[in-house]
Amino acid sequence: MEKKIKILSVFGTRPEAIKMATVVRELQDQSDAIESKVVVTAQHREMLDQVLRVFAIKPDYDLGVMKPGQDLFDVTGAVLAGLKPILDRERPDMLVVQGDTTTTFAGALAAFYFQIPVGHVEAGLRTYEKYAPFPEEINRVMTTHLADLHFAPTSQAREALLKEGVTAERVFVTGNPVIDALHLALQRPYHMEPELERAFTENKRVILLTTHRRENLGSPLQEIYLALRNLLYNYPDLAVVFPVHKNPKVRQEVAQVLQGLPRVYLTEPLDYLPFINVENRAYLVLTDSGGVQEEAPALGKPVLVLRDVTERPEAVAFGTAKLVGTNRHQVEENVARLLDSREAYDAMANAVNPYGDGQAAPRIVQAIRSYFNQAPPPEEFRPESKRYQMPEARAQIPEND
Ligand code: UD1
Ligand code: UDP
Repeated sequence: MEKKIKILSVFGTRPEAIKMATVVRELQDQSDAIESKVVVTAQHREMLDQVLRVFAIKPDYDLGVMKPGQDLFDVTGAVLAGLKPILDRERPDMLVVQGDTTTTFAGALAAFYFQIPVGHVEAGLRTYEKYAPFPEEINRVMTTHLADLHFAPTSQAREALLKEGVTAERVFVTGNPVIDALHLALQRPYHMEPELERAFTENKRVILLTTHRRENLGSPLQEIYLALRNLLYNYPDLAVVFPVHKNPKVRQEVAQVLQGLPRVYLTEPLDYLPFINVENRAYLVLTDSGGVQEEAPALGKPVLVLRDVTERPEAVAFGTAKLVGTNRHQVEENVARLLDSREAYDAMANAVNPYGDGQAAPRIVQAIRSYFNQAPPPEEFRPESKRYQMPEARAQIPEND
């Protein structure tokens, strides 16, 4: 019997957990060949725990680094210090990180200091703008240079890596596990709070809004919210569902502009299952989130991206996503166009899956095993070779269940 390879998955925020959930499950499923360990940094606390509950992930280690008002120095320092004794004790064969957060970068750096190989999920996303998004663009560039295996979600991401000199044999186009998670979640029954359900029963069209990017804090957020205030005034059949990020700097702007307005449904961050079902039932999506930008096209929802640049150009190229920035008038005009013109709406409402086919996690795990000569390399994800349909969403769990 071959020696098992020990893989340590490290993540800390909500989106990392969602995108690592199926990877962790796949690692655990192959327990005949793999010993899987999970470390959460808890850079996010409540928003991370929501995801751990949904996917029944029980971390082996929890660094508990989150503190109110944390800055980049706090998180970077705490993750490095927290990982040191764990890596020293566990000495995994590979450490796997996901995405572009401070946890991602500091996790990869800690592994490098122990000369432990690093696998990077969602590698090769680029805007080529140092401060947009901040600090994510540089986090992922640095993670690329610390990593040994690169799981690119799309062929465009692979090209970006090759241009930076990454060895082609170390890059695998796998698709993004965000689509694996979405696929699983749509098949599970969900519960929606009655207050939120009313948004859909009492209004004709619902916009789903999420905002949290650091570079949008302050006046860009105010601009976005002011645009929505005008739109609500001009379109009496319109409602906005807005699960507000836990960041107090986001909450402060929301309180100033949107709190208390009719047809604005402000909620705490939603659990993943109700969230994606809101996304699935919404008329359109307005967001500065990375993950939501990937999910909405798979659900056939037009998505207006509240940023000037994106590292996810594929859905823009397919016509399902559009960059609208944060200027009040720009946002208002773009939303109004989709509300006024059926033609404009239909042109964007295409279900496309440039980001995956629901099989990213098995490919990633196979690529890891191929690195250790346990398996052949996986077949690549090719969106054009397979029209992948999302499953129909399940019905809601009745209120008295
Ligand atoms: C982080 C990531 C960003 C990612 C986002 C996903 C960095 C630098 N940023 O941004 O790339 O897109 O997560 O949401 O890694 N907070 C809570 N409870 C929580 C979560 C956060 O109170 O469950 C508070 C924190 O205490 C902090 C603030 O929200 O004061 C911001 O959290 P932080 O992780 O530093 O940055 P995000 O903006 O969430
Ligand atoms: N999400 C969620 N509940 C919410 C808002 C978002 O579960 O109230 C999920 C969403 O489905 C997506 C992910 O969180 O998969 C996106 O996370 P976020 O926007 O915080 O981070 P980003 O993707 O921008 O890094």
